[in-house]
Formats: sequence, structure tokens, C-alpha cells
Amino acid sequence: MPTISDQIYLLNDQYKDASKLDARVQLHLLFSTNKYGWHRWCFDQYALPAKANVLELGCGPAHLWKSNLDRVPTEWSVTLSDFSAGMLDQAKQNLGERASAFRFEIVDAQAIPFEAHTFDAVIANHMLYHVPDRAQALSEMRRVLKPGGKVYLVTNGLTHLRELYELQRRFDSAVDFGWSHQAHETFSLDTGGVEVAQFFANVQIARYEDVLNVTEAEPLVNYILSMSVIAEVQNRRDELQQFIECELTEHGVIHISKDSGMFIGTKQPAAPL
Ligand SMILES: C[S@@+](CC[C@H](N)C(=O)[O-])C[C@H]1O[C@@H](n2cnc3c(N)ncnc32)[C@H](O)[C@@H]1O
Repeated sequence: MPTISDQIYLLNDQYKDASKLDARVQLHLLFSTNKYGWHRWCFDQYALPAKANVLELGCGPAHLWKSNLDRVPTEWSVTLSDFSAGMLDQAKQNLGERASAFRFEIVDAQAIPFEAHTFDAVIANHMLYHVPDRAQALSEMRRVLKPGGKVYLVTNGLTHLRELYELQRRFDSAVDFGWSHQAHETFSLDTGGVEVAQFFANVQIARYEDVLNVTEAEPLVNYILSMSVIAEVQNRRDELQQFIECELTEHGVIHISKDSGMFIGTKQPAAPL
């Protein structure tokens, strides 16, 4: 069974293109109760100079930038990077004619191919739990940041989607539904701060208030199946759909907790000799 940091599985299957990630994004778009918008909120957190040089690692299909095109300062220089060429293709497609305002690079977060002291900010959203050597990635982020530069690192809290995992267990506790729950166990908002603080100063956490109120079975089934590689789960789509439809008939709505947010840290200026 692939783990959350199995690079071959991530590159050749899970993130070969954006289809599986988009099945999950769709559930959040349809049923999140906070209508302000996750990516608008992320952008609100960025406190950067007027001419900022920004690097995003693991940008995926560039939803962050697509959702904020109306307010990305024209003087910013933004490099979008991911280790999956398929994701970068989708990112370019999603940004349409505005894509030419961005740079696109294939980058593994563990070996960032830029000079030291280049960027005012490094963004890494929902990706650090996939990186096998997270300390190396954090160290690389610090290296490429200018002194005083910021990291914005998004991840989930330990209670994120707990009712979804309960639902999966009640459907069949013997089945492995994939790696999603490993994300919080690997690098969570609740426990990951210690790691971040080894590389950055003034580490703060900002959380986004939200909950899912799911009223349709199919988007939830798509979400669950997007993370499972085993045929046993894929072959039970109809059974899973019926199970979720019964839940909805009984309760009218399925409430699922969310807990996502970001660590914000600063690269300490070098101490005077
Ligand atoms: C859950 S998706 C998040 C995408 C995007 N940041 C977002 O929040 O919508 C994780 C992304 O990280 C990328 N990724 C995983 N491991 C990586 C690594 N070692 N270096 C760079 N990108 C990586 C994947 O290809 C994928 O696009």
C-alpha cells in the first residue's frame, strides 16, 4: 500500500494530473459552510513588499492564484513550482491568458534550484506531509529566502475530517481507504510547529474556521475513492454510494469537521559578527 510520501506513487498516480486532487477540491467547494473562500483567506495572510519575489512549492493546479488573480500585484514576480509536470500543465491551463505573468518550474522541494537569498516568501500549501525529508525541504526554503523573508506553510489539524474517517470505518473497518488520515499524523497544525521552529523564527499559526455540511452522496464517494489505490475499494463504489445515501436519508446532512490553517515563520536576519 503506498504511503503518503511514496514519491513513485505520488508522481505516477496520485498527482500525475489534477483529476484526483480536483475530486477532493470539489467536495470542499460544494459543501463548505464558510463562503469567504479558503484561497482568498490564504492570500489575506501574505504580508509582503510591493515588489515581492514569491516561490510556491507543490503549487498543484494553481487554485491559489486562480482564486486571487484580481489582487496579485503586477509588480510581484511569482514562480509556481511542483515536482509533477502534469500538475504544472494544469496550472498553466487554469491560469489561461494570465499564465504568462507567472514562471513555472519543475522543482522537488528537497532540492530547490535557486540561489540563496532570492525570495521574499516561500509558500507550501498542503504538500509538506508528502515530502520524505521534511527537514531538508525546510532547510532549502530557509536557504532561498532573503533575511527577514516569510514562509507560509499550510496543513491540517488532527481533527480535520474526523467524521469522514468514522464513516469509512463504519462502512468497513477492515478496508484500507488510503493515505488521507496520514497527512495529519505526519505534519499537523497541532504538532508540526516544533519542526518549523527549528528553521524559522516567530512561528505563528492562523486557522480557517469551516465545516462541511454534505447533502449529496456522489461527491463524497468521489472524494473517498480519490485516495484509494486498491481495487477492492474501487469495485465497491455502488455499495459505498448506497451506504452514504442511507446516512443522508436518515440524517438529512452529514457534518464533517474541518481544521486547516497555516504556519507563518520568518527567516532570522543573520546576527552581526
Ligand atoms: C495536496 S496537493 C496540493 C496542491 C496545492 N498546493 C493546493 O493546495 O491546492 C500536493 C502537491 O504537492 C506536490 N508535491 C508532492 N511532493 C512534492 C515534492 N517533494 N516537491 C514538490 N512538489 C511536491 C504534488 O505534486 C501536488 O501537486
